[in-house]
Amino acid sequence: MSYQRSKDPHIIDLPKILDKRGNLSVIEEFAHIPFKIERTYWVYDVPGGEKRGGHAFRSNDEFIVALSGSFDVVLTNAEGERRVWHMNRSYYGIYVPHGWWRELENFATNSLALVLASEPYSPENYIRDFDSFRKEEK
Ligand code: TYD
Repeated sequence: MSYQRSKDPHIIDLPKILDKRGNLSVIEEFAHIPFKIERTYWVYDVPGGEKRGGHAFRSNDEFIVALSGSFDVVLTNAEGERRVWHMNRSYYGIYVPHGWWRELENFATNSLALVLASEPYSPENYIRDFDSFRKEEK
């Protein structure tokens, strides 16, 4: 199984190994997600209803999984197209290519968002102002 690196955000279903002792899912770089994993981080202890994100990346691509709980991934492109995914299962994730304004919101209490990233952390990769984002993407 392999995927093209796409400019379109989309859900990727992960393997789901069902077991009476507890289920298991897995992510391998280039097999299940279309990039090499340079960084892994997670967002947790988010107060219910709180928001994270509110920025775009110049080149970093990400894959986001709701390991626990639920939240919404809200993506907006420079043309103003807005797309929302409700994430609430640990056996799929959303591929978020760079070039989309990205917000995580509507967190349920005790949610855990796992984020796999294609690049190391770099503040220069962030666009934190929506108008600047639109201008850069034109
Ligand atoms: P940020 O990506 O700005 O999260 P949000 O947009 O949800 O607020 O990250 C918050 C802080 O964490 C920021 O000061 C930078 C730091 N940070 C790192 O040091 N390394 C990382 O890999 C990430 C994602 C954030």
